[in-house]
Amino acid sequence: MSLKSFNIGKYKIEKPIVQGGMGVGISWDGLAGNVSKEGGLGVISAVGTGYYENKKYSQKLVADRPLDAANFYSRDGFKAIIDSARTICGDKPLAANILYAINDYGRVVRDACEAGIDIIITGAGLPTNMPEFTEGYPDVALVPIVSSPKALKIICKRWQKRYNRLPDAVVLEGPKSGGHQGFTYEQCLLPENQLENLVAPVVEEAALWGDIPVIAAGGVWDKKDIDEMMSLGAKGVQMGTRFIGTHECDAHENLKQVLVDSKKDDIQLMASPVGYPAQGVRTNLTELVEKREGPSIKCISNCVAPCNRGVEAKEVGFCIADRLSDAYEGNLDTGLFFSGTNGYKLDEIISVKELMNKLTKGE
Ligand SMILES: Cc1cc2nc3c(=O)[nH]c(=O)nc-3n(C[C@H](O)[C@H](O)[C@H](O)COP(=O)(O)O)c2cc1C
Repeated sequence: MSLKSFNIGKYKIEKPIVQGGMGVGISWDGLAGNVSKEGGLGVISAVGTGYYENKKYSQKLVADRPLDAANFYSRDGFKAIIDSARTICGDKPLAANILYAINDYGRVVRDACEAGIDIIITGAGLPTNMPEFTEGYPDVALVPIVSSPKALKIICKRWQKRYNRLPDAVVLEGPKSGGHQGFTYEQCLLPENQLENLVAPVVEEAALWGDIPVIAAGGVWDKKDIDEMMSLGAKGVQMGTRFIGTHECDAHENLKQVLVDSKKDDIQLMASPVGYPAQGVRTNLTELVEKREGPSIKCISNCVAPCNRGVEAKEVGFCIADRLSDAYEGNLDTGLFFSGTNGYKLDEIISVKELMNKLTKGE
């Protein structure tokens, strides 16, 4: 099957492959800029931009960590990342992934608009008021992430009523995806929640609102998987884990190596202060947390609302901002390494261009 382009709002995505936003610092300028340059959709993660370029955009550090949401989600760092990605991809479509659960969500969405981003993708919560924050930027396309037809219906209903607008596309994320899930642990295991069984009902719901393109995510690994999603009615796919295996991926080499070294059984769901299970690789940190011997929890960066200033972090045994940032800095002892269930398949680091060729031509 030859892959067809599709549109997200006014933006034409030449190759229907969206690179999933990955924080902290995994999909920044290098990865997102190059994916867009190669005709896919590059997605910059807005998480932890205060860590960009050795924290030079963080106005205030405490214990070498960005203090509070204003520094953790540094406006200047975010703008520098977007500007740098633009020098790589020119005027090709470029997106930002901004989690609904973050403190400062509205401000970060506005920062993205002001910095010239074309498309905003939001998950981790139902973004029922997302259009509110892009007022004045009618060309910025809005893409929520959902895990069920019901969630899409709620969003469409609210957006149409309140803002007279509908999503420009929707990402449907199944439980094989890396990072946070849109399901409880038990729901992740149910057959009806597997991506291949969710695509058709979500496409059906999307059609009721005027053919909103559906982008399927979670466990998509190769051209065969992409073809399968397209045959079920998806217009595109979103892939995260496989893009970690690229030279241009902004992650530390140690993070890439953790995935390359991982075995199938090392990848598992774990509790997270965000309130939903997260998929990642079992590492030293997992052992420490299980023994309640993890690094101390201080809530310096005040990153996500559901954590309630460290209350949930203490409950699950780790601070998500600090542990993901440690992974970004390559710390194998205390880093948290997210991965989709297929992460163990990663066995080489290649260029984005090579990967895009493999994915589109099936070689
Ligand atoms: C290391 C890692 C970090 C991620 N971080 C985020 C994030 O910050 N925001 C988000 O919406 N999704 C995040 N995701 C999910 C991806 O954007 C993507 O939807 C998912 O990885 C797709 O599944 P796959 O990894 O099997 O391809 C992350 C995934 C990984 C592997």
